[in-house]
Amino acid sequence: MSQRDHHSARPLSPHLQIWRWGPHMLVSILHRVSGSAMALVGLPLLVWFLGALASGPEAFATFTFWMGSPIGLVVLFGLSWAFFNHMMSGLRHFVLDIGAGYDLDVNRFWSIASPVIGVLLTLALWSYLLFAKGA
Ligand code: HEM
Repeated sequence: MSQRDHHSARPLSPHLQIWRWGPHMLVSILHRVSGSAMALVGLPLLVWFLGALASGPEAFATFTFWMGSPIGLVVLFGLSWAFFNHMMSGLRHFVLDIGAGYDLDVNRFWSIASPVIGVLLTLALWSYLLFAKGA
């Protein structure tokens, strides 16, 4: 048997088509999506912000113009959701990493509560920004 045949004869590990969908799968996927969004979109914007800040009032005005535009606000809203969602599922991750929270009902509860709390924190932040500060 060639090495190739040997590999293809191995059983495949159970994958997406095998498991029944549940909130624990969603929270895991959202963790990766939100972490990647912050890294790929958020960090370049942070670099732009710092660069504009260091380059003077004109560059900073360009930055605030774009970030204050409807598309900029949608991006910032999305990034704030990504942060809070990732923070909540990351904190859940730390708890699971110490071996706690694996009882089925507890696990299910937090896999639903984490993203829900992430959304609530996002809405709380924007309510504050838009209404409390009168933006
Ligand atoms: C609120 C603070 C944060 C917490 C508690 C947190 C927690 C975590 C944890 C526990 C993991 C590992 C998950 C695993 O082992 O599968 C992780 C992965 C990751 N984090 Fe964070 N994180 C935070 C903030 C951030 C920020 C600010 C960024 C980006 C700028 C980020 C980007 C990522 C990325 C890209 C991954 C890998 C995701 C993957 O490929 O599955 N995180 N985070």
